[in-house]
Amino acid sequence: MKFFNLRTILFLSLSSFLLVQCTSDPIPGPPGVDGIDGADGADGTASCISCHSNSARDPIENSFFASKHGSSFVGFAAGRGGEDPTNRCAQCHGEEGFIDYVELGESDSLGYANPSPFYCSTCHSKHRTFDFENDGLDYALRNPDAATLVIDGMTVIDFEGPSNNCITCHQPRSSYVIPAEDGTGKYVVTSSRFGPHHGPQSTMLEGIMGANLAGPEGYPGVASSAHRNGSSCVNCHMGESSTETEGLHSMVPTEAACVECHPSGAPDRLAEFDDRMAALKQLLGQVVGEEYAVDSLGNPVYDMDGNPVGNGVTVTGIIVDTPEPDRSQEGIFSTAEAQAAWNYKTLLEDNSRGIHNPAYTRALLENSIKALEE
Ligand code: HEC
Ligand code: HEC
Ligand code: HEC
Ligand code: HEC
Ligand code: HEC
Ligand code: HEC
Repeated sequence: MKFFNLRTILFLSLSSFLLVQCTSDPIPGPPGVDGIDGADGADGTASCISCHSNSARDPIENSFFASKHGSSFVGFAAGRGGEDPTNRCAQCHGEEGFIDYVELGESDSLGYANPSPFYCSTCHSKHRTFDFENDGLDYALRNPDAATLVIDGMTVIDFEGPSNNCITCHQPRSSYVIPAEDGTGKYVVTSSRFGPHHGPQSTMLEGIMGANLAGPEGYPGVASSAHRNGSSCVNCHMGESSTETEGLHSMVPTEAACVECHPSGAPDRLAEFDDRMAALKQLLGQVVGEEYAVDSLGNPVYDMDGNPVGNGVTVTGIIVDTPEPDRSQEGIFSTAEAQAAWNYKTLLEDNSRGIHNPAYTRALLENSIKALEE
């Protein structure tokens, strides 16, 4: 049904435009692009057709359905609203919640009874203007602007183009505070899912929101990565392609997106990424913490100076493989141990084997390992 609707919309969009723009041109241009010589009108029309035609639409639709976006699970959007407007599943896991978040600043605190899966209308709506030349081609994206991150409500990322669409969803949730020294030297892990949920790709590309432990490997400047400035989410993941399982709306990176800078083929991971991740994980499994004392509600207890109070029982491992791989254990740990665990989970969840930001990945990895070895 939805499939049919979209075809109708795309068709109507174009035909209504054609009706309005009846001129002697066989394919008329948009009104008054620059109002000088009319030459830009013809170009503008060519660009309308390049998107609003059957032949353009089919590969988009097919590649969309080949993507994880095309089969995403939206069940979370039904039940998980909640008080904290920056931490509701619906804003990233279903169409209605996402649209409300983009348009109203938050999704419904009650969740959505029948959330719709992602579809064209999740990300696309209306062109802001048709003056693409001066205003930039907006792809009718709902959220082409810079995005404020939910994790602190302050930091802004601006990829200056259609990749801003990705930030809204592919960022860490606000579920945990990034461990930082607060004078106690301790950090309390209160769940088995500690770490950035689940898509810290935008923050990795930007080179932020790791726990920047001091160490031998220098941190690259924020927004300095060659992959951020010379390429983009859209360039790598939505490149031109003759197969529908790569590039386009499949979100599978194309090799062609690498060759301009890596002429002899790009490496498929940061050098030694797997070995160093394994080394970090092993160290995290050996960390020794302590169970925290709990109040009547089950929350951690703190003394008058803000130090967490332990109950004397040892916890071995801040990241372990039980009950499932790469889960955190609850307990009181040193700040540095929690920071290293945060970094491990960030690199794991980023899911690009260091590609999104090789230099930042290297610094987080090496400095985390060093901190645990001390
Ligand atoms: C880069 C691709 C692209 C180009 C170029 C493009 N469009 Fe669109 N347009 C879209 C997408 C995607 C949508 C959202 C899906 C939909 O509503 O059909 C859209 C939506 C629309 C809509 C319906 C939404 C609204 O604003 O009411 C109209 C009308 C429209 N486009 C007209 C045009 C015209 C006229 C041109 C040329 C001046 C043009 N488009 C150029 C991709 C494009
Ligand atoms: C409306 C929120 C939303 C937007 C916008 C969005 N994504 Fe996603 N994306 C998701 C969710 C949720 C998943 C996981 C779907 C699942 O597995 O159920 C996902 C999955 C993916 C995957 C596959 C991950 C895997 O585990 O295989 C890639 C790659 C991806 N997105 C890239 C992008 C890029 C690039 C953009 C911007 C052009 C983007 N996404 C925009 C929410 C979004
Ligand atoms: C800020 C956006 C955002 C919010 C809020 C959010 N998610 Fe996600 N979630 C994502 C993205 C993006 C992915 C896909 C990441 C990837 O594949 O790299 C994802 C993936 C997942 C996955 C698949 C993880 C995996 O490793 O396969 C689960 C399960 C999930 N989310 C549950 C939830 C639940 C439950 C909530 C609410 C409590 C929630 N999410 C809130 C963005 C979000
Ligand atoms: C997760 C968000 C998302 C979804 C879902 C999505 N798009 Fe897009 N779409 C984008 C982004 C981002 C771009 C800009 C890509 C670029 O710059 O090349 C884009 C570009 C386009 C374009 C213009 C460029 C091109 O590839 O021709 C068209 C047309 C389009 N989308 C149509 C669709 C249709 C039809 C669907 C549903 C089958 C859809 N989109 C679903 C994010 C999305
Ligand atoms: C330099 C090119 C490049 C850039 C820029 C880039 N990516 Fe990636 N990304 C990749 C590659 C390559 C992978 C690994 C894909 C694989 O293993 O199949 C990847 C992995 C991912 C994954 C996990 C896919 C999976 O199958 O689990 C997601 C989600 C993702 N990227 C989203 C994004 C988002 C969102 C942006 C922008 C903030 C972005 N990427 C920017 C190249 C890039
Ligand atoms: C705009 C140019 C550009 C593009 C496009 C580009 N890269 Fe890179 N890449 C670089 C530069 C420059 C470096 C070295 C600096 C750094 O680490 O950030 C690099 C480093 C890397 C590294 C780290 C190697 C190591 O061990 O230090 C990997 C892996 C990588 N790129 C993979 C990719 C992949 C995969 C793609 C395509 C999906 C891609 N790159 C696209 C410029 C680019």
